[in-house]
Amino acid sequence: MAADTPEDINRQRRRFLTAATTVVGGVIVGLAATPFIKSMEPSLAAEAAAIPIDVDVSKLEPGQLLTVMWRSRPVWILHRGAAQLKTLQDPQLVARLKDPDSKQPQQFGAPVENWHRSLKPELFVAVAICTHLGCIPTYRPEIAPADLGPTWVGGFFCPCHGSRYDLAARVIDGSPAPLNIPIPPYHYLGDTLLRVGSLKGGKDQNWQPAIW
Ligand code: FES
Repeated sequence: MAADTPEDINRQRRRFLTAATTVVGGVIVGLAATPFIKSMEPSLAAEAAAIPIDVDVSKLEPGQLLTVMWRSRPVWILHRGAAQLKTLQDPQLVARLKDPDSKQPQQFGAPVENWHRSLKPELFVAVAICTHLGCIPTYRPEIAPADLGPTWVGGFFCPCHGSRYDLAARVIDGSPAPLNIPIPPYHYLGDTLLRVGSLKGGKDQNWQPAIW
């Protein structure tokens, strides 16, 4: 059978999201259980509007994930520790990735088309949407947990149909998801202050990946 095109997948996702609002709502509730630092939340007004948001990451510890909202979608900001970064270059993991070098246009441009898919290796930013049918994957930093098996070295797991992603949100072979998770435009306003939703100069606010 021919592989689904991005248009096929977007059509399937629209049908799936219409039929599964309750399921997705449940996953969003689950997001609240991830480490969430209230003091770092940007204003609700900025979240509601489709404008860039500024996020202070100064208190984000290695291994900790912060979730904010941008364009009505959850966005992960993950502070990857040294051991987590090391997994991203593990040849055994890289050999199992569908798009290890980010050849597909699932990120805003060349500055994040690298092995860590980010501007700074330790700080990772991604739109928390599974590229299969749009569920919200969960952050699973554990090594080889019983439910994910001995090859799991930490990453993101989609509970809807089992897609697996590494800690740079690169999709692992065997997952129904076809593409890596999108990296939105962002830049640094300071060492620990991020602006999510635009590049320097305010460009790319209308950026959209192949599967969104
Ligand atoms: S929506 Fe199907 S695996 Fe994520």
